[in-house]
Amino acid sequence: MNIPIKIAGIGFQVPKTVITNDDLTKILDTSDEWIKTRTGIEKRHVLSGNETAVELGIEAGKKALSKSGIPASEIDYIICAASLGTHIYPSTACEIQRAIDAKNAACFDITAACSGLIYSMGIARGLIKSGMAKNILIVATDAVSRCVDWTDRASCVLFGDGAGSMMLTVSDDEQDDILAIDLKAEGHIGHHIQMATPGKNCPLVEPNDEPKMFVNMDGKEVYKYVVTKLPNYIEKCVEKSGLKMDEIDYLVPHQANLRIIEALEKRLNFNPENVMSNIKDYANTSAASIPITLVESIENNKMKLPCSAILTGFGAGMTVGTAVVRLREGIV
Ligand code: ACO
Repeated sequence: MNIPIKIAGIGFQVPKTVITNDDLTKILDTSDEWIKTRTGIEKRHVLSGNETAVELGIEAGKKALSKSGIPASEIDYIICAASLGTHIYPSTACEIQRAIDAKNAACFDITAACSGLIYSMGIARGLIKSGMAKNILIVATDAVSRCVDWTDRASCVLFGDGAGSMMLTVSDDEQDDILAIDLKAEGHIGHHIQMATPGKNCPLVEPNDEPKMFVNMDGKEVYKYVVTKLPNYIEKCVEKSGLKMDEIDYLVPHQANLRIIEALEKRLNFNPENVMSNIKDYANTSAASIPITLVESIENNKMKLPCSAILTGFGAGMTVGTAVVRLREGIV
């Protein structure tokens, strides 16, 4: 039996503190002009004081849940795409469970960096279609500002913090909102973006310095990989969906670099008005960037519901994920 899935709610949350490109010139040898022309970024939201990615995730999760109208007690799973919650364990998903009182949910985190939302959708889709779950809350939350090297101008200017969410449930009509999902990983080039975990050998074995927990990225290699490989992966996913590229209303890509987004737009022959981007206001918020862009574009009337859309992300791993979806009215 094919169980149709409904995307029942989406949401996002960003911290209040905003850092502009000009602000960054106080601590780095950089300029608004360089950052804007190379990336399209003008500002980013960052956590401050005791704020955490978990709190952002809780607020984003509540929004998707409230839009869905599903009680927290009926959530079967919380899947969290988070690279930097407050703890490695308990998982960020468990911390969100406690905060929203989803007492019947099983909870776990996944690590797929900026592809985290799409990877989570793939797992959730499998759980629902197999009959193992009815209601699944996905939360993608990241605090990249806490793990970039703020002296490395080639990487730190690219990121911001934020959380996004999506509530999936069994459709109450025949419509399946997730038409296709395609997930890829290319571990052999994982060294292009890395972040080490903390931890060191027992001092009786050997003295060891604490490893640095910073994002380490070869931006040029990531750029080349994405513009060469991603369009083919997207085309294959669209093929699986049964739709043709020109039948799909919108492209909602991961917000890593405006030049990458424009390259995708040209290569896939999308009308610029139908390609969603808000990188100028948020920078790269990792796994949260697709849901943040989705919600904002709907709220700002750049995307009109109901519609079809390609959601596509890429990131450390290297991981790549694409979903072709239908979005109904009332999800935001
Ligand atoms: N301000 C001023 N100058 C800078 C800065 C800066 N912030 N950063 C680098 N430069 C300099 C470099 O030092 C270099 O100077 P040089 O020519 O004297 O050596 C010059 O600018 C050009 O640097 P490039 O690296 O060639 O710049 P490029 O045009 O390739 O842009 C960028 C760099 C923006 C990082 C680009 O390669 C990119 O966006 N890559 C993709 C990154 C990405 O998508 N990551 C996603 C994954 S994130 C995740 O999964 C967590």
